[in-house]
Amino acid sequence: MSGSMDRLFITDVSPRDGLQNQPTPVSTEAKAGLIRLLAQAGVASVEATSFVSPKAVPQMADAGQLLAQVQGELPDLRVSVLVPNLKGLERARAASAREIAVVLSATETMNRRNINMGLDEAVQVSEQTLQAAAAAGLRTRAYVAVAFDCPFEGAVPLDRVVSLAHRMRVAGAGEVVIADTIGAAAPGMVRERLQAILQAVPQQQLAAHFHDTRGLGAANAWAAIEAGVRRLDASAGGLGGCPFAPGAAGNVATEDLVLMAERSGLATGIDLDGLLRAIDHVEARLGRPLGGRSIAWLRRRRPAA
Ligand code: HMG
Ligand code: MG
Repeated sequence: MSGSMDRLFITDVSPRDGLQNQPTPVSTEAKAGLIRLLAQAGVASVEATSFVSPKAVPQMADAGQLLAQVQGELPDLRVSVLVPNLKGLERARAASAREIAVVLSATETMNRRNINMGLDEAVQVSEQTLQAAAAAGLRTRAYVAVAFDCPFEGAVPLDRVVSLAHRMRVAGAGEVVIADTIGAAAPGMVRERLQAILQAVPQQQLAAHFHDTRGLGAANAWAAIEAGVRRLDASAGGLGGCPFAPGAAGNVATEDLVLMAERSGLATGIDLDGLLRAIDHVEARLGRPLGGRSIAWLRRRRPAA
């Protein structure tokens, strides 16, 4: 790995992956407040919300209103939104979305549980959605979820993950995001899988998205960095989890990644004290303590307000 000029690009997904599964209602204003604090902390890219069925995920029902508010207030922030199909894209475009992410799972059962389609249909719908978004001038990302283990089908074959990642790239995905939905990966697996996927997706277009169920989130992120990946998703305070994947815990915490990266000579542009203010804000809204594995240490070293 090269020196201190090396840079890690973090997309903070806490407003979407983090808040989609919370039992406590969070107002649109409080969500916008979180995104504002993340931007103030130097986060350059945020996944703000999802345009999914409000019956499936009522927590994201205010997607249009939130997106309009955030993009109006923070014109320089890169803001993406998750859309599972063309209907989601249509709603996102009506709210002036500039970047969308489709979500394709690597198994039949996970697609059915998550988006009510089989694998073949999910591939087609993801391709159509990416193509329509690109034709409308939007930036795009494509998740390949359950890229390690599936909660329903167990270990997922690597060749299938490589082939789906390749299809998403060919369909025009600006970024392909390899996701460990239930946090089942380990660093050796991450290195092996990402090295194989790098044969199909160029390094600048590859991102990784880890959940921290077994305490290996940061180790997995480091394995991805060592494999050459420089785009990682993370969530402030370690919030997160797919409601349709049993056993999914929160995402790897943004604060853990920032701390790890900066202590290792990788710049993130994110200020840890600013990030703590964003985490304080969500904690107050959810009424429970949050934070990744570094949170206690980060708070102890924090300058008095
Ligand atoms: P469906 O019921 O099969 O949809 O749901 P349908 O096409 O049959 O339509 C049924 C109704 O839903 C219709 O309305 C549609 O218009 C409407 P009606 O005629 O009954 O009034 N509809 C929609 N409404 C709003 N937005 C839409 C939309 N599409 C159809 N986009 C659907 C299919 C995909 C919509 C549904 O299953 C769904 O919303 N699923 C939610 C998926 C989700 O949000 N999962 C969590 C995020 S993924 C995740 O967390 C993993 C990730 O973090 C990566 C990782 O960690 O692995 C990304
Ligand atoms: Mg996720």
